[in-house]
Amino acid sequence: MQERSDRMRRSGKTIVFVPTMGFLHEGHLSLIREGRKLGDDLVVSIFVNPTQFAPGEDFESYPQDLDRDIALIRKEKADLIFFPNQKELYSTGFQTCVSQEKLPKHLCGLSRPTFFKGVTTIVVKLFNIVKPHIAIFGKKDYQQLVIIRRMVKDLNLDIKIIGGQTVRESDGLAMSSRNSYLTPEQRPVALALFNALNKAKALLADGINDAAKIIAASSELIKSHGNTVIDYITICDPETLEDMKIIDRPALMALAVNVGKARLIDNMLLNPK
Ligand code: PAJ
Repeated sequence: MQERSDRMRRSGKTIVFVPTMGFLHEGHLSLIREGRKLGDDLVVSIFVNPTQFAPGEDFESYPQDLDRDIALIRKEKADLIFFPNQKELYSTGFQTCVSQEKLPKHLCGLSRPTFFKGVTTIVVKLFNIVKPHIAIFGKKDYQQLVIIRRMVKDLNLDIKIIGGQTVRESDGLAMSSRNSYLTPEQRPVALALFNALNKAKALLADGINDAAKIIAASSELIKSHGNTVIDYITICDPETLEDMKIIDRPALMALAVNVGKARLIDNMLLNPK
């Protein structure tokens, strides 16, 4: 892969990179389409990264369908699909990681304390292998996007990071590979996340800008769906991810909710009038 990337770079091509863990859906494909427009050579990686899963999480059962993924990526006319194996990326004796001080201590990092260290480490490894000029990440995983942007800045990586819009099902559920864990009974319940975000938006439009009040109303709405366990609901600064008490400037509302076996996340930017 490194040799191929060197060749592409030598011939003056702009390399665009979309990293994924596979089991692709329209959200991933929208990033690939966006990437197609931004450069010459488009690389998509598929790698279920073990270091971003904690013991007891779904690494072993993470959905996979490589043949289907390859067919979907081919249809989007990507130039290269990179799917390394675990041994190639984490050889015996592996011990060097990239970790961040503050951003991973918020939102998803509270219940998944080792997750973002795994993400930053694999992403920097993939960057060093694929050598992209541009890389695209989805806003669906907003904290991940903020963390990657920060890492690129802090480590002076010469890569432009682009954020792609969240793609949703027709009823509003954010697309996720983990939606495949939802049973038919749980599927309508999963809409609780999107409904809660819209409720927050409506309250803000009505002039309520007290974050605690909005969070309480959203939490109540989610609980009314039954069969949900809220991990967190936060209203925070979209860059530092520090809590905001009053929404007097653009804020990020982000939440994680367990619906059955599926841990679902979603977010929305809230703009006061
Ligand atoms: P994965 O969950 O497969 O997601 C790959 C990319 O697709 C991420 O940038 C994610 O934000 C984006 N994505 C997922 N669902 C989306 C949706 N509904 N709309 C738009 N974009 C969406 O995120 C990872 O993999 C991994 O952490 C990775 C960055 C590959 C590192 O292992």
